[in-house]
Amino acid sequence: MNRYDQAATLRAKMEKRQRVLPMVYSQKAKTLAVISGKGGVGKSNITLNMALALQDKGKKVLLIDLDIGMGNIDILMGNLSSSTIIDVLTDRKPLMQLLSVGPKGLRYISGGTGLDVIFQLDQRKWAFFANELSHALSQFDYVLFDMGAGLSKDQLPFILSAEDILIITTPEPTAIMDAYSAVKHLVLTENKLSMRVAVNRCRDQKEGLDAFTRLSRTIHMFLDVQVQFAGSVSDDPIVSKAVVEQVPFFIKSPQAKASRSVRLLADALFEREETRHKVEKQTFIEKLSSFLMRRA
Ligand SMILES: Nc1ncnc2c1ncn2[C@@H]1O[C@H](COP(=O)(O)OP(=O)(O)OP(=O)(O)O)[C@@H](O)[C@H]1O
Ligand SMILES: [Mg+2]
Repeated sequence: MNRYDQAATLRAKMEKRQRVLPMVYSQKAKTLAVISGKGGVGKSNITLNMALALQDKGKKVLLIDLDIGMGNIDILMGNLSSSTIIDVLTDRKPLMQLLSVGPKGLRYISGGTGLDVIFQLDQRKWAFFANELSHALSQFDYVLFDMGAGLSKDQLPFILSAEDILIITTPEPTAIMDAYSAVKHLVLTENKLSMRVAVNRCRDQKEGLDAFTRLSRTIHMFLDVQVQFAGSVSDDPIVSKAVVEQVPFFIKSPQAKASRSVRLLADALFEREETRHKVEKQTFIEKLSSFLMRRA
């Protein structure tokens, strides 16, 4: 195939994908991708417990575990789910029917393995997946994505399509450095992102704010980008106890320091939603489609 044939094939592929974007459902959900540079800094615990805190405020929340191959949200809840998002991608099963139900009725789905099939979907499968995800985005107030550590290529389109990105770090210099590298990677791919930072495992508020200041100054100095402070989460022994018992700490001990911290994180998200004007021009699905097309 010569260069002109290749360009024509690519154009046809893109036009087809644009045509099959679902038009039926309008997006209600706010989307948030929770990421980190370094592993083990508390993404899954924060995402799960923040989802429960949002539910406590009467919001409908869907949690999607996109830590492909390493997902553990169901283990943190003491549940085992057999269906994954890959079933929607490959077997064309309806997403809303595959959702598992966790404690307090929390809806969630695991990532499974092999998300990179999303780059090779034929038109029918892509249309089906986009339609299913779009349906879910019309049914929930929040869709939270728990991502794996670092930024793998199959997760990147989902992260970049989210309305907000929450970067989790701890106060340790190694975690801060890795958070900086993750932000750099994101910014080099897309420069209009809404990014916030939560500092986990803090002794007190000041430790969190100091760590955030170090990170945000470095990001501003070298990348010329602003990130917002989402809050600090206390270092609290209840977290590992809850992990061992497979009960989310927000349920096990709602007044523990860590639970109060995630409630404040959820509050920040909630208040922002109330005050924010509708500025999003593209839906999650539209963005996902265009990021996937860039890689076509
Ligand atoms: N606020 C906290 N206080 C005390 N311990 C914590 C806190 N947050 C996390 N931990 C500890 O860190 C461990 C890892 O947390 P978690 O699984 O949420 O991290 P992660 O970022 O999702 O990891 P991965 O990168 O592997 O997905 C927990 O099992 C717990 O022992
Ligand atoms: Mg995790």
